[in-house]
Amino acid sequence: MKYVAHSKEETQDLAYKLAKVLFPDSLVALNGDLACGKTTFTQGLAKGLNIKKTVNSPTFNILKIYEGDLTLYHIDAYRLYENPYDLGFEDYLDNGGVMVIEWFDYIKDMFKDDYLEIRFTYLDENSRLIEFIPHGQRYEELLKELDSLC
Ligand SMILES: Nc1ncnc2c1ncn2[C@@H]1O[C@H](COP(=O)(O)OP(=O)(O)O)[C@@H](O)[C@H]1O
Ligand SMILES: [Mg+2]
Repeated sequence: MKYVAHSKEETQDLAYKLAKVLFPDSLVALNGDLACGKTTFTQGLAKGLNIKKTVNSPTFNILKIYEGDLTLYHIDAYRLYENPYDLGFEDYLDNGGVMVIEWFDYIKDMFKDDYLEIRFTYLDENSRLIEFIPHGQRYEELLKELDSLC
């Protein structure tokens, strides 16, 4: 599935819809260069989970946790690039929450092949290509549900 979001708001709206079809313990893997919209997307997703706090870039924290309809574990793996130190993130995947990881490719070896990958590509100042790639049966089903909302 591919979308072109023509504004920050369209990106957040898509993420909001995704939040409505996520299941407990789902893993959302965000890939794409700096400023492509990974954190912006996560903000819309948080809104869809009824999280009231402002979600911002966790670059200096690596992990931030927000309470909502499902607990959001927001990870930014950017600083783990050259030293993908295993911080035990997979332990959070059976807590009934949702894990969203920016720069997932840097730490993908820590996870089994069961996640929703989302790739962001910069098109122009206000437009981003957003591609959804399911890894595993559960995420193929999830994307069908998302498609019906879009
Ligand atoms: N269609 C769009 N989708 C997402 N962000 C956009 C879009 N158009 C412009 N932007 C801007 O691009 C920047 C994306 O930054 P951010 O979400 O922090 O990226 P990342 O987390 O990938 O580094 C923000 O300043 C945002 O306002
Ligand atoms: Mg970011």
